[in-house]
Amino acid sequence: MGKVHVFDHPLIQHKLSYIREEKTGTKEFRELVDEVGMLMAYEVTRDLELQDVEIDTPVTKMTAKRLAGKKMAVVPILRAGLGMTDGVLKLIPAARVGHIGLYRDPETLQPVEYFAKLPQDIEERDFIVVDPMLATGGSAIEAINSLKKRGATKIRFMCLIAAPEGVELLKEAHPDVDIYIAALDEKLNDHGYIVPGLGDAGDRLFGTK
Ligand code: URA
Repeated sequence: MGKVHVFDHPLIQHKLSYIREEKTGTKEFRELVDEVGMLMAYEVTRDLELQDVEIDTPVTKMTAKRLAGKKMAVVPILRAGLGMTDGVLKLIPAARVGHIGLYRDPETLQPVEYFAKLPQDIEERDFIVVDPMLATGGSAIEAINSLKKRGATKIRFMCLIAAPEGVELLKEAHPDVDIYIAALDEKLNDHGYIVPGLGDAGDRLFGTK
């Protein structure tokens, strides 16, 4: 069963309090989301494999540890996921970036993929899917379906704020996926917004309405 990791790191919680605040403007919001993306990536990559390498320090030879070179990819769900991508790339700059775009079918209310551009060597990569808000879980589930259909086997999901409903559905649909969350909020409201949440993440990142 995939684990749910809720980050209680003081820096993440501090920055998240400003991200949530209504009066925080677009520029600051974007910078803070980027920073929290980077801080979260530090924890999300905690289980990356290391290998021994022989090196010379100025004093002696030693066996040191380096990343075993597992190929990584970050996949933002368009468009709000873009806001967390650069932060993750600051820590794993060699990662490839795939993109998945989904819209909600107005009749079925189900997410439908309209765009997917992914690295070619999918089977060889570990994926981190990013989206600031895990609300109903529909987009995350569909984005992960899309990756698995194309051959991805190791996937992590990372978001800023999650609703309990979304976490449960995502866990059920993809029990093999670890979920990383900066805050688990109370609930979804009737309009599908997370409460207390931060409003519309895409609009706040890009200054749209
Ligand atoms: N998407 C958002 O941007 N905000 C929410 O509260 C829920 C989904």
